[in-house]
Amino acid sequence: MPEGNSNDGEIFKQRTRAVFDLVATGYDNPAQRFFPFCADRMIHQLNLKPGEKVLDVATGTGMAAIAAAQRILPGGRVHAIDIAENMLAKAQFNCHKHGLDNVDFHTMDAEQLLFRSQYFDAISCAFGLFFLPDMSAAITQWSRVLKPAGRVIYSSFTQNAFSPYAELFRHGIESLGINFPSASWRRLSEPLECTQLLTTAGFRDAHAELIQMGYHLADEQQWWELLWNSGFRGVLTMLSPEQLARFRVQHLAAVAQHQTSDGLWLNVEVIFTHARKP
Ligand SMILES: C[S@@+](CC[C@H](N)C(=O)[O-])C[C@H]1O[C@@H](n2cnc3c(N)ncnc32)[C@H](O)[C@@H]1O
Repeated sequence: MPEGNSNDGEIFKQRTRAVFDLVATGYDNPAQRFFPFCADRMIHQLNLKPGEKVLDVATGTGMAAIAAAQRILPGGRVHAIDIAENMLAKAQFNCHKHGLDNVDFHTMDAEQLLFRSQYFDAISCAFGLFFLPDMSAAITQWSRVLKPAGRVIYSSFTQNAFSPYAELFRHGIESLGINFPSASWRRLSEPLECTQLLTTAGFRDAHAELIQMGYHLADEQQWWELLWNSGFRGVLTMLSPEQLARFRVQHLAAVAQHQTSDGLWLNVEVIFTHARKP
C-alpha cells in the first residue's frame, strides 16, 4: 500500500478495483459470512431512524446498505458507493432481492465524494477504509458531507484476524520467491489508531470496540473459498497456473493441520469504531 505518492495511490486503486471486480460473483459465499454478520452489527449501532439519509462507503455487495435501507423506512434513503462496478452490480441484485427501492448505487472513489456538504445523517464503511491510500483525507470528506451531529461508524480487522492461516498464506507465497505485498487491512488494526483517525478530523466521542466475529469453517476447502473470493485473491493472481496449483495443495495441507472436531476456527477479530460530528 503506497503512502503519500498520488500516482502510486491511483495504481493501487486500479489494482484494488480489478481484484474486487474479479471476486464479485463469489463474494457472498458462506465461508465469508462474517461480512453480512458485521454489516448488521455495525448498522445496528448507528441507531438509524426512519427518514434519515445514509452514505455507505465501499459498499461491496451491499450488505450494510441493505441493513441501513431497511431501518430508515419510510422516507429514508441510502447512497452506496464503491470503486468496483461488478461489486455494485451484485449489490444492486441483492438489494432488489430484498425488495428495497430506497438505495442509490454510485461508482465512486471514496476519496472523491461527489455529494453536497452536510447532506447525510450517518455514514457507514465496512472493511473499506484501509484500502484508501489517504485515510485521513477520506475522513475529512466524511465530515464535510455529514450534517452537524451526524454519526459515523466503520469496521476494520485486528492483527490477529485470520490467524494462523494468514501467516501460513504469507509464508507459502514467500517460499515461492514472490514478494508478499503488505496487506491493506493491517494498516488499521489497533483500536487507538482507529479512534485517533476520527478525533484528528474533529469528530467527538470516538469509541472503538473489539469484537470476535469468528466461527468454524467446515474444512480447509472453505478457507480456500475465502481466499479465492476476497481481497486475498489479489496475491493469488500473481502466481502462474502451475505455481497456483502447487501452492493450493501445499497451503491447504498446512491449514488442515489445524482441523478440530468442530472444524477450522476462523478468527475474525473486528474493531468497530464510531463517533459523531460536533
Ligand atoms: C473487503 S470489501 C468490503 C465490502 C463491504 N463493505 C462488506 O463489508 O462486505 C472492500 C470494498 O472496498 C471497495 N473499495 C476499495 N477501494 C475503494 C475506493 N477507493 N473507493 C470506493 N470503494 C473502494 C472495494 O471495491 C470493495 O468492494
